[in-house]
Amino acid sequence: MGLLGLWGFVVFILCFLVLAYVPLQTHASSRSSINRKNLVVEPLVKGLCASMVIGHGYKCQELEVTTKDGYILSLQRIPEGRRESGGIGTKKQSVIIQHGVMVDGMIWFMNSPEQNLPMILADSGFDVWIVNSRGTRYSRRHTFLDPSNDEFWNWCLDDLVAYDLPAVFDFVYNLTGQKIHYVGHSLGTLMALTSFSERQLVHQVKSAALLSPVAFLSHMKTALGVIAARSLLSEALTLLRVAEFDPRGLLVKGYVRSVCASPGVDCSDMMSAMTGPNCCLNSSAVDQLLLHDNLQPTSTKNMVHLAQIVRYGVLAKYNHLEPQNMMKIPENIFPQSYYNLSNIPHDLPLFLSYGGQDALSDVADVQNLIDRLKSHDVDKLNVQYIKDYAHADHIMALNAKDIVYNAIVTFFKHQ
Ligand SMILES: *[C@@H]1O[C@H](CO)[C@@H](O)[C@H](O)[C@H]1NC(C)=O
Ligand SMILES: *[C@@H]1O[C@H](CO)[C@@H](O)[C@H](O)[C@H]1NC(C)=O
Ligand SMILES: *[C@@H]1O[C@H](CO)[C@@H](O)[C@H](O)[C@H]1NC(C)=O
Repeated sequence: MGLLGLWGFVVFILCFLVLAYVPLQTHASSRSSINRKNLVVEPLVKGLCASMVIGHGYKCQELEVTTKDGYILSLQRIPEGRRESGGIGTKKQSVIIQHGVMVDGMIWFMNSPEQNLPMILADSGFDVWIVNSRGTRYSRRHTFLDPSNDEFWNWCLDDLVAYDLPAVFDFVYNLTGQKIHYVGHSLGTLMALTSFSERQLVHQVKSAALLSPVAFLSHMKTALGVIAARSLLSEALTLLRVAEFDPRGLLVKGYVRSVCASPGVDCSDMMSAMTGPNCCLNSSAVDQLLLHDNLQPTSTKNMVHLAQIVRYGVLAKYNHLEPQNMMKIPENIFPQSYYNLSNIPHDLPLFLSYGGQDALSDVADVQNLIDRLKSHDVDKLNVQYIKDYAHADHIMALNAKDIVYNAIVTFFKHQ
């Protein structure tokens, strides 16, 4: 039971950890073709607006939202397109954009203004709000806790659903007085689906676009899982005792390095091995993300919760039992321990986009999700399948505008 029990945990952790290894590997390898001198290493102390947005000619506001449990989240607003000049009168539709795990709002800006989603939405007439989840670089404040304090990291998906998203939606809804469109990627889709299944946000959300949707993780593919499970049991347990799960930290990097040293594990193509073979990324954008400590911390408890979802094969709420004692509780006996996707309002407009090459949101798992939505109103469910896309393509592909983002704009404008 112990070994089996940890298997899912280790596999899952690895999927994200290995991303942290890529920078080390790239530094060490001579095949790397990038010219590091061309990469501007700019510490993002200024905030996202100043470092990623304003320089491209967009207005951008830095805002703060405090959650009911005291976290102070940073939120950026791009109120209009580049060529607009504060036109009065036309009330714009708002879009909230939520990133996935181990990254922050910056992930949306890795490509040029013509290629990235927030700026395309702003240029298409939307009022755009970019969330930064608790624990990430700009959202490491709390009304009385400090990130150096373990208690600061005592949260998981359930708390993101209960506190983070409602705080941001209330804030935007109060300010604009209208229903809001939503875009999530990866964990950002899971946050939305679970919220909707609890009937949260549903009175404030106009529609939701879910990119690389995650609800089930049973079929997630990874080259490393078995070896890691065999060799890294003790390391995994050590990690569990650290409250902040920082992909840039020495502990996590060391852990990943030791996996990569295992026979049969090839870390030279780790990004592909873990997210799937992304078809269409700009390699300098990937370098910018991975070489400059742009991966972001989350809580270990959040990772453990996700691992439980992997292992249970269902959308369980966090199980407080020790990981080695975790057991699957029958869904029908303790329904309050699960998110029931059938409770998502059937008339809530949803746009799902998933990729055939995605190693995290595997096709079989997405199909399981779509199956759970089979009672959804047919004309309220739009599903897009992109054969060549893997997990990161949905946020960083050079052709994502043509394939995905234009479709999102059309979808939002139809609601
Ligand atoms: C939104 O407005 C309601 C009612 O005025 C108020 O109770 C609530 O605190 C406001 N929320 C935010 C986040 O401003
Ligand atoms: C890739 O990114 C670099 C650096 O941001 C940029 O100069 C280049 O134009 C991008 N390539 C494409 C095809 O967009
Ligand atoms: C989930 O919700 C649906 C519809 O409300 C209900 O029929 C079903 O029994 C629920 N499933 C569980 C396991 O509680």
